[in-house]
Formats: sequence, structure tokens, C-alpha cells
Amino acid sequence: MDSVTVVDHPLVQHKLTFMRKRETSTAGFRRLLREISLLLCYEVTRELPLTMEHVETPLAEMDSPVLEGKKLVFASVLRAGNGLLEGMLDLVPSARVAHIGLYRDHATLEPVEYYFKAPEDLSDRLTVVVDPMLATANSAIAAVQKLKERGARDIRFVCLLAAPEGVAKFTKAHPDIPIVTAAIDEKLNEKGYIVPGLGDAGDRMYGTK
Ligand code: URA
Repeated sequence: MDSVTVVDHPLVQHKLTFMRKRETSTAGFRRLLREISLLLCYEVTRELPLTMEHVETPLAEMDSPVLEGKKLVFASVLRAGNGLLEGMLDLVPSARVAHIGLYRDHATLEPVEYYFKAPEDLSDRLTVVVDPMLATANSAIAAVQKLKERGARDIRFVCLLAAPEGVAKFTKAHPDIPIVTAAIDEKLNEKGYIVPGLGDAGDRMYGTK
């Protein structure tokens, strides 16, 4: 997989535009995020290995492909990651789930961990980290670091929007981890928000301020 994939599918781009709009409601924002997450999940899983399984259709027997290997893991960076997670679980219901609680200290913009729960053995599972906004990349870098410490070796990072600064910093810290995103915006502002962006993804998903 390329180190950065921008999913420029027309449906993704159309839905993203509506997520950016200030007037989009909380319910609308959540629905759009869920819908886009299906399309991002499709992209990040496109190279999953398959194995053949012998099946009987009502008409004949055949060998037909099924996913090979251990169940994959979705690792949600709380809380906004859950918006991407839900749609992904619709597509891959058997996936295991990790939750990583990191909040951004508003003064330093550094991530502070408050929760970590993951399946025991990550070493032979594809682990897809989900967090809608790759802004400063501090949380994403810390989340991936934590998963690596727990043995994860095949990791991909999925976000909705990225800042060029975030992509550069993440790639420098974890050059082995491909990024899948719907768009790379212009820049980060002095408060660590992506511009033009869509605002605070968690607040927009949950109607908080
Ligand atoms: N997190 C968000 O929710 N939005 C940004 O623009 C940056 C980080």
C-alpha cells in the first residue's frame, strides 16, 4: 500500500463537503461520517489476503474466496475515532476492537493517555487505527507507538482529513505505516486545528462544545 492514499472517490468527496459545512446538523454529520467510513474501510482492506473455501451453492460445488488469517483489529482513538469505527464494524463485523483514550492538552497540544484496552495478541493481525483528524499527529503517533509496544506489526492509519504538517510528522515517526485519508487540507492553525477543515470532529459528532 502507498505511504499516503487520498481516497478521491466522488462519493467520498461529496459527503466530505457536506461534513465541512458549518450548518450540517449533528445527526447529519454522524450519518455522513458513518457512510464515509464504509468507503474508507473498503479502501484500507482492499489488499487483505484471501484463501479458498469449498462451498455448495444450490446448483453446484465450487471453491470460493474468504478472508484469510486472524480477525483484524480496529483501534479507535477516543472519542472521535468511534465515528469511523462504527461504520467499519458494519463492514467487518467479526473484527476485534481496541480503544485508545488520548486527550489533547490544550496548552501543549501533547497527547495524554487515560485509557488503553486492546486484544491480547496483536502480532499477527492487521490493525487499522481510526481517528478522523490527523492534525498535529501527536495522538496518532502515540496511539501507533502503544500498539507497536503491544506487538502490532501490520498497522494502517485511517482518517477523514489530514494536515500536511500532520502527515509529515506521522510519516517521520512511523515510516512503515500507510495513511488512508479522504483529503489533505491546506494547513494547521496556531491552535492545532486543520484549516479549512471541519472544526472539532468530536464536538460535531456529539453536539458538544
Ligand atoms: N481535531 C479536530 O477535531 N479538528 C481539527 O481540526 C484538529 C484536530
